[in-house]
Amino acid sequence: MQDAKFTPPLFPIGLGSWHIGDDPEAADHNAQTVRFALDHGVNVLDTAEMYGDGASETVVGRGMAGVDRDKVFLISKFYPWHASARDLPRALEGSLRRLNTDYLDLYLLHWPGQVPLAETIKTLQDLQRQGLIKQYGVSNFDAAAMQELFRVPGGSEVQYNEDLYHLGSRGIEYDLLPWQRQHGVRLIAYSPLAHDWQTRQKITGKETLRAVAKAHGATPFQIMLAWAIRDGQTIAIPESTNPDHVATNIAAAKITLTKQDLAALDHAFPGPTQPEALDVL
Ligand SMILES: NC(=O)c1ccc[n+]([C@@H]2O[C@H](COP(=O)([O-])OP(=O)(O)OC[C@H]3O[C@@H](n4cnc5c(N)ncnc54)[C@H](OP(=O)(O)O)[C@@H]3O)[C@@H](O)[C@H]2O)c1
Repeated sequence: MQDAKFTPPLFPIGLGSWHIGDDPEAADHNAQTVRFALDHGVNVLDTAEMYGDGASETVVGRGMAGVDRDKVFLISKFYPWHASARDLPRALEGSLRRLNTDYLDLYLLHWPGQVPLAETIKTLQDLQRQGLIKQYGVSNFDAAAMQELFRVPGGSEVQYNEDLYHLGSRGIEYDLLPWQRQHGVRLIAYSPLAHDWQTRQKITGKETLRAVAKAHGATPFQIMLAWAIRDGQTIAIPESTNPDHVATNIAAAKITLTKQDLAALDHAFPGPTQPEALDVL
């Protein structure tokens, strides 16, 4: 999958990092897991100034050390209350310092806030002109928010929206995903393994999912990931600090679900039949 401003093809399974900075004692191990992911094909890393209050960015930066910078598609996000012309340059400066890099490939507004979008986009364009970010985008935007964004000068330059999406939460298929496809906005699917183990267990416990997994010689987690990226345009960003899990998540990119698999999964995990409020964490 190609990105206009990033030369290597984007690998459709990235690495999330929400919690990887939470335990200082695990920082070395977690930085090594980031490096393991990069050495085994992952080239999309997702972090945010919010995660661990900057600690996640620090661990991600350590994991990237020594890797060709132009081979990593690095995403970070800023708080909505840092989205103003006054505060955003400083927020970016902090992220770049913690990540130990001089630019981001993609800088996302973490969720909609109070600062006028026009001000945020104009500031992002200034940062882009300075070479500090290659692209800007959004996260946790629903269809109405995307439409509002596209009415703002520079808003239609956005090519990525990062939203929650997994087999057990398909609401965005009703209106947001069709709109994004029509407007060339790619989905970055967060929590593709349903975030918490109770929800994940409910999903992976379903006989249909287990049967599809068995037919592919795969795990239910791998089928969840293969399903999330099935349109060939979506990037899923599962988080893991376990290299074995990272390896199996990477291998999920090779699984192609058949029409019969997809029909069976649709039956077991029905898509939306009416508009639904955006699912967020
Ligand atoms: N933009 C936003 O607002 C937003 C919101 C939420 C998340 N995100 C991003 O999306 C990323 C992923 O979302 P998430 O962390 O909520 O949840 P997730 O990726 O759906 O699930 C993560 C959990 O799955 C486990 N796991 C991963 N691979 C596994 C495997 N192969 N087998 C068994 N368990 C596995 C992990 O444990 P182990 O470490 O033990 O593998 C971890 O507990 C975040 O890290 C963050 O970067 C963005």
